[in-house]
Amino acid sequence: MHPMGNSYHQERGDVPPPPTGCPVHRDWSPLNADYLEEPYAIAEQLQADHPTFYSEKLGYVVVTEMDELDRIFTDHETFASTNVQDPVYALCPAAQEVLAAPDFNPVGVMSNRPEPDHGRIRVHTRQGFSNKRIKTLEPYIRRRSDELIDAMVGVGSPTEFVDAFAFPLPGETVFRFIGFPQGDDELLKSWCSDRKAFSWGQPTDEQQAELAEHMLAYWRYCRDFTADKRKHRGDDLASELITAHENNPGDMTYQEVESIIYGLSFAGHEAVTALICNSLLCLLNHRDQWDEVCADLSLIPNAIEEVLRFNSSQIAWRRVTTKDTTVGGFDVPAGTGIFMNFASAHRQNDIWDNPNVFDIHRPNANRHISFGKGVHFCLGAKFAKFETQLMLEAVSQRLPSLQLVDQELEYFPNITFRGPSKLHLAWA
Ligand code: HEM
Repeated sequence: MHPMGNSYHQERGDVPPPPTGCPVHRDWSPLNADYLEEPYAIAEQLQADHPTFYSEKLGYVVVTEMDELDRIFTDHETFASTNVQDPVYALCPAAQEVLAAPDFNPVGVMSNRPEPDHGRIRVHTRQGFSNKRIKTLEPYIRRRSDELIDAMVGVGSPTEFVDAFAFPLPGETVFRFIGFPQGDDELLKSWCSDRKAFSWGQPTDEQQAELAEHMLAYWRYCRDFTADKRKHRGDDLASELITAHENNPGDMTYQEVESIIYGLSFAGHEAVTALICNSLLCLLNHRDQWDEVCADLSLIPNAIEEVLRFNSSQIAWRRVTTKDTTVGGFDVPAGTGIFMNFASAHRQNDIWDNPNVFDIHRPNANRHISFGKGVHFCLGAKFAKFETQLMLEAVSQRLPSLQLVDQELEYFPNITFRGPSKLHLAWA
């Protein structure tokens, strides 16, 4: 891993002290066990206490109010996204040594690349995400949903839904979209889980070194895959990107193509797994609304928006200041990490009536910021919503008697992504 320039993951530098006058929270961190288990009541209290504060455990300024989050998202010159893929904590020497390999050189391309390069690269990638192309996935998702439900039904109730359905399908879908060969799905899925721990978790030194080995292997895989695709094109995003590079090498480099593939294979995967699980948690905990959805599939799109507000699969994101500025009214120097806490903002009662109530009919459910905002707005938002819609259609039509089994939910310790590790479901 190379500390400077455009490297995809950058080492965390010195942690700045709290800005003058900014309230300091000594105990709270998004990695605290109680917050991982149930963040919303705590998130609401944090905002009520201090809308902007400094978290000593994170070393970031935490912003909780929607207006300020909107402002930060839309001012990409002052608040850069260059830190969004970086490990939260400094890497141990063993992990640093692994990532110092000269061929570990992915570059920031989309979520973590500043303008104007970001816009230049996004134009090419956006073409691959046309509505038409997303729609071509429909037969695959419908067929695989049915196959996975058949397998669940074959084994019988109850089932563990993450392993049976929610984990395999989003991975497979985005891997076919990119063009990865089917035989590599398991390997790719395990590397993606490692990415979550590496960039957004708090691994021990030993775990960090092991994760670093996996990141290196994952990057080398993406490079070999891109080289192979160059020789054997298909009807997939990777082939399109390679062709776009060849048509205009000055506009998008080959290394940028490799790096897009490295980034996208993660981006399109686990947040969707979490979204389908969180959707079922919300709906099955509100039986009347589940029954409504089973009877009328046209309610699903707004139900998904409400899940993205009420129990999102992404509850925070990061930025870093590029110059001296103010945040929440406090002067902050250049280089300050900003932790954008969506969980607090998504329960604001000046935006939503009764924000702690889950309501699939809510007219402004889609005012959430789960996909970000501004120039980096999630490129896969339509893709993720379409996929989740098809999956919910299949599950609700095949298993309307679905219900939650009494269970304690566990959440993988990380600062941003949120969905249960296991979800036990039963049906009649
Ligand atoms: C529920 C699922 C998903 C959630 C909650 C989510 C959320 C996000 C968020 C918060 C960002 C950062 C936005 C910002 O900085 O303003 C982002 C960026 C991005 N997402 Fe997603 N995402 C999801 C699914 C996907 C999928 C399925 C794909 C692709 C197949 C994808 C591809 C991307 C890409 C490429 C970016 C970077 C865009 C840019 O910087 O121009 N995401 N996503």
